[in-house]
Amino acid sequence: MAKYLLTFLTLLCMLSNAQQSPWYHHTTIYQIYPRSFYDSNGDGIGDIQGIIQKLDHVQQLGYETIWCSPFFKSPQADFGYDISDYQSIAPEYGTMTDAQQLIEEVHKRGMKIVFDMVMNHTSIEHPWFKEDVRRGKGDSAADYYIWRDKPTNWKSMTGGSGWQYNTERKQYFYASFLPFQPDLNYRNPAVKDTMLNTVRFWLKKGVDGFRLDIFNVIYKDAQFRDNPFMMKAVPSETDPSGFFQKALYTINQPESFAFAKELRAVCNEFGDKMLLGEVSGNRAAIKKFMGDDKNDGLGLVFNFEMLRFKFKANYFRELIENIEKDFQDSFVPTYVFSNHDRRRSIRRLNNDMQKAKLLHLMQLTVRGVPCMYYGEEIGMTDARMKYKDALDPIPRKYNIPRFLVDMQGETLNRDELRTPMQWNDTANAGFSISANTWLPVNANYRTVNTETELADVGSLMNAVKAILKVRNENEALQYGSLKMLDKKVLPKNVLGYTREYNGKEVLVLLNYSNKTKHIVADKAYKSILYNVSSANKVGGKTITIAPLSGSILSL
Ligand code: GLC
Ligand code: CA
Repeated sequence: MAKYLLTFLTLLCMLSNAQQSPWYHHTTIYQIYPRSFYDSNGDGIGDIQGIIQKLDHVQQLGYETIWCSPFFKSPQADFGYDISDYQSIAPEYGTMTDAQQLIEEVHKRGMKIVFDMVMNHTSIEHPWFKEDVRRGKGDSAADYYIWRDKPTNWKSMTGGSGWQYNTERKQYFYASFLPFQPDLNYRNPAVKDTMLNTVRFWLKKGVDGFRLDIFNVIYKDAQFRDNPFMMKAVPSETDPSGFFQKALYTINQPESFAFAKELRAVCNEFGDKMLLGEVSGNRAAIKKFMGDDKNDGLGLVFNFEMLRFKFKANYFRELIENIEKDFQDSFVPTYVFSNHDRRRSIRRLNNDMQKAKLLHLMQLTVRGVPCMYYGEEIGMTDARMKYKDALDPIPRKYNIPRFLVDMQGETLNRDELRTPMQWNDTANAGFSISANTWLPVNANYRTVNTETELADVGSLMNAVKAILKVRNENEALQYGSLKMLDKKVLPKNVLGYTREYNGKEVLVLLNYSNKTKHIVADKAYKSILYNVSSANKVGGKTITIAPLSGSILSL
């Protein structure tokens, strides 16, 4: 008996951190922009059935979790980030039955799916907004939105006053993002209850969690104090202040941190659910959204500081070290290099596929959750389109000469990075049979597409697939701690770190330079789990890494 008890206890001990931590701490995320993924009915617009038909692609790549940008009812003025009914599906994307089927099909494959929750604002066409206008001013406690007779100096996140005048109600309403996206008033308990029940509505349908749109502006200052002046023109990933004011009373308010905990508690009613916050701010602000010491807020928050990464070992070393310092134990960072709002990552690599392999290798082996935007696995590039023809409302808002934006290495026109997914070399890259796709397909689709890359052993897509396979079979890469190799023991422009779990260890080496590098390790690594280049070699403690290449090694 005692013997069995001992065996049982030993087994229990082995079920350490990994099994205790929630699934989303060691998952991998693939972001789908539904409008651009796959068009199943030939109207030129991607749809939910299209996603279902292409789920095998994501599964075969090896990603576990899918995040879909919104497909709820919407006038599509911001392509779904302006919702007019949270509990129905926009007809161009499908029906409620399709959404339900999508959840089931994902689960059938042993995968997870998170939806996009736009809690901060609705569309101006939402019936709640119309009702606020109809009722007029008077009973402000019943308002679903934020109304004022006199605006404060608050700037919207996209520049210009955040206050919009409504001629019918003869008052200003507040919109953190664009004028047609009025902010909900979370100080009205009815609003909060309604939105939390929307979250429950989808959790009951089986979604595994949510990506939370601009979650850090949910609450604004209760006293409507003016923001102070600040000598800063452009907001950045780690500091949302800009347009010459400090966003003291509009962003990252204490009530928003508290709301993250409330939301988490609601999700906990349904088990382990992923909450992935879109938050701009420094690491300290991100941690507040995660619930600081208690870690009872959002389970994950994008670490956007790396969006404008530099392709240099020193850059990544510093980044990872900083993140490791601030996100320890149960705090897991989210590594992200692009999304539906920002330039595709390969653009920052001069469209170099070889460099892109290295970027993926790092993202998929570092300690944290990788979140990858559709098309990055094949090296899809940004298109270049005229700002004046943009469907995206952002470029139409500004009158800035394009060369100034180019100089920043950015674009204002998000159409350019939302072009249809490139599936094969047939017309429209196999995205749609329609002659009119909602955005034009990139010209390079004949060579950059999933079918061509699948057949090419040396392709970026096969590299992503192979790295994910290693990750999914290796506990050290999924759950392990990370230890950075000292700069002094490595050649110039080479990055190295180990991942360790339950006595098992792997070493990751990345050579960001154009020269072959020799590394002398302190242990004899025997097997190569993954090699970017077949020229990479291990011989005893000496490891050779080819130019712009990398390896995952085990003892
Ligand atoms: C987020 C979304 C973006 C959208 C905005 C307003 O930043 O990622 O696409 O336009 O919020 O909802
Ligand atoms: Ca369609």
